[in-house]
Formats: sequence, C-alpha cells, structure tokens
Amino acid sequence: MTVQRHRFRRRLFYLCGCFHGRTCYNHLMRLNKYIASAGVCSRRKADELIANGNVKINGAVVREMGAQVEDGDVVSVNGTEIRADAAKVYVAVNKPLGYITSMNDDKDRPTVADLVADIPERLFPVGRLDYNTTGLLLMTNDGELTYSLTHPKHEVNKTYIATVAGVLSKARLAKLRKGVDIGGFVTSPAQVRVIKQNPRSAVVEIAIHEGKNRQVRKMFAAVGNKVQSLERVAIGDIKLGRLLQGHYRKLTRAEIEYLKSL
Ligand code: URA
Repeated sequence: MTVQRHRFRRRLFYLCGCFHGRTCYNHLMRLNKYIASAGVCSRRKADELIANGNVKINGAVVREMGAQVEDGDVVSVNGTEIRADAAKVYVAVNKPLGYITSMNDDKDRPTVADLVADIPERLFPVGRLDYNTTGLLLMTNDGELTYSLTHPKHEVNKTYIATVAGVLSKARLAKLRKGVDIGGFVTSPAQVRVIKQNPRSAVVEIAIHEGKNRQVRKMFAAVGNKVQSLERVAIGDIKLGRLLQGHYRKLTRAEIEYLKSL
C-alpha cells in the first residue's frame, strides 16, 4: 500500500468515527451524485459538466465519470465551491399557460424559474410540462430525488385532466386503456375515465406512468380526439389541490418522505 493510500484510509477511519476500518467506503460519493446532491443540477447534467471540464476536485479538473469525492475534498463547478450537504427545498408549483419548463429561455419567454424567484436556493423542475399545459410541477434543488423520479425505470403515475374535442367513444376509451401507438412507441395501459361528455367535447381524467414528450396529447390524437386543454392534477399521491396558478407551496415532510420512498 502506498503511503498516500494508507493515509487516505486512516483519514477515513478517524474522520468517520466508524469502525469499518480498512474497508470503509461509506464516505466516498460519486462525483455526479455529489454535484446533484449539492443542488447544482440533475445527475445527468452533472455528467455533462464533468465531461466538459467544468468541475474541479481540490483545484484539479476532473473529467472521469467514475471519480469519487471523499470527506474533506473541495469540489467546485465553474469556479464556485459547492457542498453536497446544502439545505434541500421541495415545492409544488401550479404552472400557468405560457410558461416554459426550463430555468432560462433564449426567446425570453416566462419560465418556471420566475415562479419561485423569491426562494434563495436555485430550484430546478422535476420533469417537464408543455408550454400549453398547466398544473402540478415539482421543483427542488435535490438532484438525487430529481434523478430517481425522472428515471424511466421509476416513472411514477401522473394524473391529468384533459378537455378533448369531440366524443370519446367506448371504443376509443378502450384503445387508450390498452395502449396506443404514438409514433414508434406503444404506450402502456393507462387509467382513463370520462368525467363529462358535452355535445362537442369531453372532460377526461387520464393517469399514465411514462413520460414521453407530449404523450397525453399524442395519445388522444392517436384515437382521433384533439386535446384542447391539459392540466396535471397529481404526481403519485402529491395533489395539486387548490393551489392557485402561478403560486407555489412547500411540500410537507410526509410528502417529501413519500417521494423519497418511490
Ligand atoms: N403530456 C402532454 O402531452 N403534455 C404534458 O405537458 C404532459 C404530458
């Protein structure tokens, strides 16, 4: 064992105060996870930052994807020191029409960042809602939670209320429930129920667990009903409730625990 490595292991042992000794790797964290935990961005974006040479550990640029951060290391992104133990903030936002789900826009349109501008921490959206979709959007600086909630493997049920043109016949409902081809992708079975059928439109509740681009609009288009308006009303057990458009509320401890348990 080199002197350096020996010191490193001793350092872990004494700093942790644990008794795992020589085999203790509890206090190592993968660099992309560290950046996400510090609330800089998601783990995927962190990989890009690392690959582009924007990240330093103890003053040295690190481009290795598998790099690890250990206790006492100083990590910086674009020259700013970051800490993985930064306070985490979790909010539910009611996104109005005409806001883009991004932190900035090159066309200068309103973004969801404007809706949480009075929160000092830099929050980023968990997943996306279209420009023309309203409703529940979660925002946080917990990149780890964002990573797991948006990972295709862990897609959680999202519930929408759609107003669609025309009549949603039984046959069309059955197709939506079974799964439809939205252009090279067949959707999984969805939970769909008609809340109200008007002469020229229908109000429908639909719950899906996948997150393809414009998926709900494409699903209704696939059966011949154009979406006129779309609102997300729930993400798993987290409900939009009576939150006013353009407003946010902090998630409760129970809601945060619930999201982490997913
Ligand atoms: N499906 C859509 O079509 N749009 C959204 O914004 C979300 C889900």
